[in-house]
Amino acid sequence: MKNHFLNIADFTPHQLTTFLDRAQHWTDALNNNAPGAGDLLKDKVILTLFFENSTRTRTSFEIAAHRFGARVVNWDVKSSSMSKDESFLDTIQTLGAMKPDAVIIRSSEYNAPYFVSTKLDCPVINAGDSHRAHPTQALLDALTIRQNKGHIEGLNIAICGDVAHSRVAGSNFQMLSKLGANIRIIAPEFLMPEKMPAPNIQTFTDMDKGLQDCDVIMMLRIQKERMDTSQIPDDATYFKDYGLTRSRLALAKDNVVVMHPGPMNRGVEIAEDIPDDPKVSLILKQVENGVPARMAVLEWALSYQTQRAAA
Ligand code: CP
Repeated sequence: MKNHFLNIADFTPHQLTTFLDRAQHWTDALNNNAPGAGDLLKDKVILTLFFENSTRTRTSFEIAAHRFGARVVNWDVKSSSMSKDESFLDTIQTLGAMKPDAVIIRSSEYNAPYFVSTKLDCPVINAGDSHRAHPTQALLDALTIRQNKGHIEGLNIAICGDVAHSRVAGSNFQMLSKLGANIRIIAPEFLMPEKMPAPNIQTFTDMDKGLQDCDVIMMLRIQKERMDTSQIPDDATYFKDYGLTRSRLALAKDNVVVMHPGPMNRGVEIAEDIPDDPKVSLILKQVENGVPARMAVLEWALSYQTQRAAA
């Protein structure tokens, strides 16, 4: 049995808490400038397959792997033989034949990481699956909330904006509901999910009502690449109705914090200055936490090989 990291739903609350504890361990180690595991994955070769662009996820996985002494091969779709009409399956099987120790994949195709996990003889880690799942983002988000608030259970957490097309929202619903948060969706009707992704979620189409009494506000970009753009109002209208402004922020709890998985469109879903306000914004802390959170995932995914080699 390989340690694939594909979906938050595959893990119990206890397992998720253990991931958070390990991520906190690596956070503390990095903060003390003493990672202490520079050779944990020495001699491992990790292959990244990004069929979609990324700044945060790919780079933080790469840094996490380097922190453990692993080597990373970044396969590039644009310069690959897929440009010569080689199929996705043949590409995956070809790369698998080179025997990487783990594969990290992002794709716009629904369920691609799961499909790849059935074809390869190594752990597969989901770095973003269509509009469906982004489990390591949910892990780093939960880590960031836990560090700031001390706990997740009982917090009022609003996920705002384009929930319908957001894989970050999809994985956060699973993660935060398993860890006992009170989740709200704030979105216009056309950006609400078709089906509620977890039990007991409150929904609001009025931003001012939905933000009242919130502990955490997670803003989302409009995923124009995943929808019929004629549905979307112009940026100024969207900002007027659903943008996070200072006056809206004042409706939440005094110690509210603001999060955003990025990429961020200032002036569309969030006021220009809020992301840079260290009193409320955790946005760069989320990015920072991407490294220890992904260290926890790599450690777990590759440990079965470490154990097998030692046996
Ligand atoms: N949050 C996130 O997935 O960002 P990237 O697309 O830059 O990896």
